Amino acid sequence: MNISKLHRLSAFFVATFAAIHIANHLASLASISAHLKFMEAARILYRAPFTEGALLVCVTFQGASGLWLVFAGWKQRRGAVAWIQAASGFYLALFLLIHLGAVLFGRAVLGLDTNFFYAAAGMHAPPFQYFFVPYYYVAVVALFLHVGCAIYWSGPVAFRGQTLTVGVAALGGVVASTLLVMSLAGNIQSFEIPQKYLSTYGR
Ligand code: HEM
Repeated sequence: MNISKLHRLSAFFVATFAAIHIANHLASLASISAHLKFMEAARILYRAPFTEGALLVCVTFQGASGLWLVFAGWKQRRGAVAWIQAASGFYLALFLLIHLGAVLFGRAVLGLDTNFFYAAAGMHAPPFQYFFVPYYYVAVVALFLHVGCAIYWSGPVAFRGQTLTVGVAALGGVVASTLLVMSLAGNIQSFEIPQKYLSTYGR
């Protein structure tokens, strides 16, 4: 089995987690307590030692193999969809590296519950929102685009080769991303960030 096939195989596991994860963050549109309840239930699944170990291995492999594929296929890549797939994958790989590091650091070193408030705190501690808004916004759009491109090449027959598949994925990404970032920024409902989260930004 080559790297490209392993990348696709591991993608099923990572994408399943990502779907649950994005749904978890979208639950904050209903209320912060809905987000926290969803997370409590989802963690039983993804924080079980075997699942979490496998997830961290797969996410690391996904990022590393993705970077390899971006550079190894540089000269053969033709057409907009192939370049959108490479660009979105490149961003996701860098995002995941920082994101996983930040989540594990928050848990293991800062001893924080890495819930909604952990992600939102950076958006409420100026000037860090100038980093966090584009950082999260582009990540969610890139995720939708990357999955859209995968479906374009090798999804169900009806979607293969259809540029519309990538367009719909882009639209879904923009809508989900806008709602998620607005929710974290406190534009959907107001909330107080507990002091222990703000303290990590020297507030
Ligand atoms: C708006 C966008 C996002 C936000 C606000 C966000 C926030 C978070 C938070 C707060 C956690 C900690 C979860 C916990 O403690 O249970 C987390 C974990 C994680 N996130 Fe994200 N995330 C976002 C997008 C993504 C994307 C696009 C991916 C790509 C697949 C991703 C992958 C992960 C992974 C792998 C973990 C580690 C899970 C674990 O082992 O606990 N995240 N994220």
